[in-house]
Amino acid sequence: MIVTPWEVAGKIDYDKLIRDFGTQPLTPELLTRIREQAGELHLQLERRIFFSHRDLDWLLEKYKNGEKFVLYTGRGPSGPVHIGHLVPWIFTKYLQDKFDAKLYFQITDDERFLYHDNFTMKEPQEWAYENALDLIALGFDPKKTRIILDTKSIEKLYTLALNVAKHVTFSTAKAVFGFQESTNIGLVFYPAIQAAPAFLESALVGYNVPCLIPAAIDQDPYWRIARDVAPKLGYYKPAQIHCRFVPGLGRGGKMSASLPETAIFTVDKPELARKKIMSAFTGGRATVDEQRKLGANPDVCSIFAYDYFLFMNRQEVEELRYNCLAGNIMCGECKNVLAERVVRFLIEHQERREKAKDRFEEFLFNPKDY
Ligand code: TYM
Repeated sequence: MIVTPWEVAGKIDYDKLIRDFGTQPLTPELLTRIREQAGELHLQLERRIFFSHRDLDWLLEKYKNGEKFVLYTGRGPSGPVHIGHLVPWIFTKYLQDKFDAKLYFQITDDERFLYHDNFTMKEPQEWAYENALDLIALGFDPKKTRIILDTKSIEKLYTLALNVAKHVTFSTAKAVFGFQESTNIGLVFYPAIQAAPAFLESALVGYNVPCLIPAAIDQDPYWRIARDVAPKLGYYKPAQIHCRFVPGLGRGGKMSASLPETAIFTVDKPELARKKIMSAFTGGRATVDEQRKLGANPDVCSIFAYDYFLFMNRQEVEELRYNCLAGNIMCGECKNVLAERVVRFLIEHQERREKAKDRFEEFLFNPKDY
């Protein structure tokens, strides 16, 4: 298993990640607490799609005592957004609504320029705009959401990034991110830029504001650096809540833009998405007869994973699992049900995305406003 900000491969053992990364599991007690304070538990918590955290209990205690927190999450703009990316963003929207929280959303055009050998500055900046439309389409509150586009917002990030960078040695960065002799020095500095927004609100208002970062667990190395440095700079350590990876439509592996035939992009034509779903890997048997007799395996099925992550309520998922194991339902039928839901979702999302096109500036973090 490999889990880094740039590569996720192999069979992911989430319990091992909790141990290796030194995070905490989301316990039933903590879920009860979130339910009490938020008023309801998001499906992604109920299903343990968000499964791990750091200092969430601390953050909730602060909130109870009247200290509001800010949210911080982001996107590396190197292509279209896929449905996997939406999982942490949908959850972030729930947190914004329930806790009336401001969101900083960082779009790292700098990171993607440095990472992709064949990119000029133009590609990630164009994708930044395209990807921001997906965020806006999810319905974030423009008064409480600021999109940080690194190359445009750098004026307010740079001092923070310098302060972070000064406290991180090359040997730590190498150990945490696996940098090599051949890594360009832009990438070596970049973690300081991704750590900076965790402290931005505190720096802007002049007193400490707790920060919660919802993201998949691949981004965790950045937060280890940010948390290590925070007390040295006089800031609170940022808290995190980590989600699992939405798998691709192939056999194993996370949904990834580098495997477009097994990823559903938010800009896919509905018919193309349907086609991808109809050719997806499932937990089915070799023949219909065998499946009727022996049942299929939902635990390895990409179609079931989609229903579980995004498209079915609790009762539907339980029924589907039962019918799949019992051999009462065939894979073609299941694929059709999911395809209908994905197509409906895409049509609606694409309409909202279209409407977002003239709203980018409204969301953009403008350093001049501060
Ligand atoms: P990026 O663009 O690789 O991913 C954007 C967000 O999507 C999550 N993610 C997934 N979640 C579920 N299932 C998947 N298959 C899946 N693939 C990706 C990522 O964890 C991420 O939350 N360096 C970052 C950009 C960034 C950022 C941040 C992300 C800057 N600041 C703060 C999170 C929080 C990046 O390239 O993300």
